[in-house]
Amino acid sequence: MSDQLTAVEFFSGIGAFAEACRGSSIHVIAAYDQNEHANKVYESNFHLCPNRRNLESLKADDIPAATIWWMSPPCTPFSRRGEQRDDSDPRAKALINLIEILPDCLPEHFFLENVSGFTESRVKVRLVAMLQTLGYRYSSVEICSSMFGIPMRRPRHFIVASRVLDPVVSIDFESLRDERKLKDYLTADENDQRLALIESELERYRPVLNIVDPSEDESYVICFTRGYHKCRKASGSLIQLPDGRVRFISPKEILDLFGFSDQFKFPSSMNYETSWRLIGNSVDVRAIKLMLSAVGIST
Ligand SMILES: C[S@@+](CC[C@H](N)C(=O)[O-])C[C@H]1O[C@@H](n2cnc3c(N)ncnc32)[C@H](O)[C@@H]1O
Repeated sequence: MSDQLTAVEFFSGIGAFAEACRGSSIHVIAAYDQNEHANKVYESNFHLCPNRRNLESLKADDIPAATIWWMSPPCTPFSRRGEQRDDSDPRAKALINLIEILPDCLPEHFFLENVSGFTESRVKVRLVAMLQTLGYRYSSVEICSSMFGIPMRRPRHFIVASRVLDPVVSIDFESLRDERKLKDYLTADENDQRLALIESELERYRPVLNIVDPSEDESYVICFTRGYHKCRKASGSLIQLPDGRVRFISPKEILDLFGFSDQFKFPSSMNYETSWRLIGNSVDVRAIKLMLSAVGIST
């Protein structure tokens, strides 16, 4: 492995990968995302402005040489909500382009994160075939935040590939373990009106809402999507308050559940709706650290 670890983060969003690299030997030298709100968050936290180019047409020559490629492509082509159209979904085009230009870039280590539906996809078959042709050894694994003791179910599929060694995904989650119960993560002001679910909405949607009582020690929340707050069904849990009210989980609380450090902040000018949309797309930072450790990189 070369001494200097440089990385490119594709589909960078708010930068879960850059967050996992904070304080490590990895230098993120470029990031790519089309979403201007996500890029604003990224730049304010990591002092690097992501490139807004559409990744569908990016060429190998446009990408700086780097040791590591990390990517979290859009999950809709592989999720049930998106009807699992796989490689025929236009939103898979950018990933397919990156697979096609991989032979001209050849990072030492390649990582990908996606929803569980990616496991059986045609795009994964295509990616793995390309990795093998290029001499990468790879491992794929499903990791859920609950494996780190986090009171949250968020299963995600990861691929780690390397041209220089055999990736070994550790099954020892202890060093990244967090013993806090759900109630310990809930630090927001219960009277913050931005978090309130109004009575009429509660009555209307109660049958499809996942409402969690944090006073129960084993309570856990389910996976947040970018539709949290807007789309009521299966888009993330809400919190039962002792007086019968129900509230949303704040963006800051979700960041904490995802393993972001206190240093990470949404810009103060950004409203909760935008912050929820962005964090719902993001990744558990501990899972990224675990994947990096599979190729011997400690963070
Ligand atoms: C699943 S999210 C990744 C989120 C990211 N890992 C994070 O930590 O927030 C996918 C991201 O890809 C971006 N994206 C989707 N299609 C793109 C394209 N064709 N070119 C560039 N960015 C794209 C979206 O704006 C979105 O932020």
